[in-house]
Amino acid sequence: MSARVAILGATGYGGGELLRLLIRHPNVRVVAATSRSAAGTPVSRVHRNLEGVTDLAFSAPSDAELMASCDVIVGALPHGASAEVLAPFVRRGMPVVDLSGDYRLRSLEDYRTWYRRDHPHPELIPRAVYGCPELFAEAIRGASLVASPGCFATAMNLALLPAARAGLLAGGRATVVAMTASSGSGAEARAGTHHPTRAETLRPYKVLSHQHVPEVVQCVGDAGAPIAGIDFTPISAPIVRGILAVVQAPLSAPADDEALATVYSEFYADAPFARVVSHREPECQSIAGTNYFEVRARSTADGNLHVVTAIDNLVKGGAGQAVQSLNLMLGLDQSAGLDWPGTWP
Ligand SMILES: NC(=O)c1ccc[n+]([C@@H]2O[C@H](COP(=O)([O-])OP(=O)(O)OC[C@H]3O[C@@H](n4cnc5c(N)ncnc54)[C@H](OP(=O)(O)O)[C@@H]3O)[C@@H](O)[C@H]2O)c1
Repeated sequence: MSARVAILGATGYGGGELLRLLIRHPNVRVVAATSRSAAGTPVSRVHRNLEGVTDLAFSAPSDAELMASCDVIVGALPHGASAEVLAPFVRRGMPVVDLSGDYRLRSLEDYRTWYRRDHPHPELIPRAVYGCPELFAEAIRGASLVASPGCFATAMNLALLPAARAGLLAGGRATVVAMTASSGSGAEARAGTHHPTRAETLRPYKVLSHQHVPEVVQCVGDAGAPIAGIDFTPISAPIVRGILAVVQAPLSAPADDEALATVYSEFYADAPFARVVSHREPECQSIAGTNYFEVRARSTADGNLHVVTAIDNLVKGGAGQAVQSLNLMLGLDQSAGLDWPGTWP
C-alpha cells in the first residue's frame, strides 16, 4: 500500500524537487501539493518538467483536511513559517519531514543567534531527529519529526563525519569555502540572487555568519568529535544546481591520503549514495539531479584534513535527502525512488 504524502510549499524549488521525486516513487502517492498563491493551478504550470507527468493541481487545504487525507507531511517552507505551519501535525504525532532549518538545532540560543529570531515552538524541538541518514539512520527510522539538513550543511557534514567518527579530528576550528548554485536561494528573485546580478560573477555572502554552521558543529559533535567552530565562506556561483565545498580541519594524528581514503570508504561502505573518489576530483556535473554525493579526502603538508565534496543542493542537499529520511520513516529501503544516475555531460 502507498503512503499518502502532502508536500507543503510545493511551488518552490524544494517543493518542485519533492514532486519530481515522489510522483514516480514506488511506495508513495502524492495527495496534496499546497500553495497559498497558486491553489487550483496545475503543478506543471509552475514545474514545467512535470508537464504530461501528473494532473495534480496545487491546493490550499485546511490542517484538518490534511490530517484526514494524508499519512505523511513534507514541508518545503521558509524557516520561521515552517515551524508554525508544521506544529499542529507534529503535535498530533504525524510523521513530518521538514526541509527548513527550524527544527535542526537543539540549542534555542543557537537558533536565536544564527536565525535572528525566537523559536515559536521550543517544546517541539526535542521530538526532532536530524535527518542525516549516513549518521542517524536508526534514529530516523523511529522518528516522527525529521529535520532535514541544510544544503551547505550536508556538504560539510559529509566531508567531516568519517574523520570525526574515526577520531581523526583534533577539535580545533574547521575552515570551509563552498560554492553554491542559484537554486539554493529559492524561486523568488531578490537583488542578490537574481540572474543578471550573479550570472557573471563569484560573490561571497554571509561570510562567517551563515546559519548552517551550528548544525554542522552539532552533527560532527554527535559523531564523537566536538569541533570549536567553522570559519565558513559561502560563495554564490553562476550555476543552477550544485555545491562544491572545500573543507579543512586540524588532524589529531598524521594520516596519509591512502589511510584517509580507507577511512572514508569504510565509513561510507553501506551508504548507497556515496562516491568516495580518489582517481579524480569531486564535481557538480556528475551528481547533478541525483542524490549521489562525491567526496575526496587528503592531508595537507602541515597536518590538516583536506576534503572536497560535491552535492546537488536540491537533491542530496534538499529534497532527495528528505525522501531518503521519509523512506526510512516508512520502513522502506532508503534508496526507494532515488536510485538512478544523473546525466553526463
Ligand atoms: N533551495 C535549496 O537548495 C534548499 C536546499 C535544502 C533546504 N532548503 C530549505 O527548504 C525550504 C524551501 O526552500 P525553497 O528553495 O524551495 O524556497 P522557495 O523556492 O522560496 O519556496 C518556498 C515556498 O513556500 C511557500 N511559502 C513562502 N512563505 C510561506 C509562508 N509564510 N507560509 C506558507 N508557505 C509559504 C511559497 O509558496 P506559496 O507562496 O505558493 O504558498 C514558496 O513557494 C527552505 O526552508 C530552505 O531553506 C532549500
